[in-house]
Amino acid sequence: MGSRRPLPPRKDPHDHHRDPARDHAGRSDRRREGRRKDRRPDRRRPPGRRARARRRLRDPPSAAGAQGRLLLRSGHLDDGGQHAFARLLGTPTAPHPTVRGDEHAVLPIDSDHGKANSWHSDVTFVDRIPAISVLRAVTLPPYGGTTVWANTAAAYADLHPALQALVERLWAVHSNVYDYVAERDEQRIGGIDVKEQGYRDEFRSQLFETEHPVVRVHPETGERVLVLGHFVKRLVGLSSRESDALFQLLQHHVTKLENTVRWNWSPGDVAIWDNRATQHYGVADYGDHKRLLHRITVAGDVPVSIDGVPSTPRTGDATAYSTTSAA
Ligand SMILES: [Fe+2]
Repeated sequence: MGSRRPLPPRKDPHDHHRDPARDHAGRSDRRREGRRKDRRPDRRRPPGRRARARRRLRDPPSAAGAQGRLLLRSGHLDDGGQHAFARLLGTPTAPHPTVRGDEHAVLPIDSDHGKANSWHSDVTFVDRIPAISVLRAVTLPPYGGTTVWANTAAAYADLHPALQALVERLWAVHSNVYDYVAERDEQRIGGIDVKEQGYRDEFRSQLFETEHPVVRVHPETGERVLVLGHFVKRLVGLSSRESDALFQLLQHHVTKLENTVRWNWSPGDVAIWDNRATQHYGVADYGDHKRLLHRITVAGDVPVSIDGVPSTPRTGDATAYSTTSAA
């Protein structure tokens, strides 16, 4: 058995992210300088409430928050308070691209409608993936019903360099009327175990399909993160068998236990997470008990690949759902 030989350096002239004159997002020095200028903080004025809140989510003091989440115990917010809190972080989206909510942009995550017990990031089937999700516990089952998050930036960083090189060139189609599990269970739509026909019809009332890079550059941290989860319909250009096998390999990598944190809800708890750098899973281990949480999502940018190419909507117009900037 010989020892593993290191891979030779790649010489592809189009491989911008290896060019020392360009950063990891493929931007040139000149363009980067321009952006630095644009983003230079104004030292004459202290940062506003929204900037401070967003910075706290990005650079929080706790270990859990350091992986893109903040978890607040036993708050006393109602829907209006949750909405006001979300506005500190950016511009709230509509409740959902297809499902009705209320005037506070709240989407009920209600076990009477379904259970989101598969790994996903929120609303990746549109081009403008929400930046932040704010989830508040309203009614909890007597046991179980925890939520688990996985860090998609750490997952990318932990990939073997050969796999990084592979996924950096891949794109995936995300859709709201398809997920891998759906092939085995008609009740599942877009990753949700949907019980009611009416809710099922509402969820699929408008088709959205968007092509996203499998690796995007986080617009605030500059990290590379994996964009996957249960809304992925297929990897572009691969056969269904290749696409399925590679998707499963990558999802297993993202969701391995060492890359996760699990939260046991108490009434009033609020979880805030960076939806661009995490996937999550609601554990459906509470039988027929009621579980109700209220979610508000904060607008995010259209993802950009490491070469600077933005995601492309194929079907559906999400402009009514969300603005495109979380800044
Ligand atoms: Fe979710």
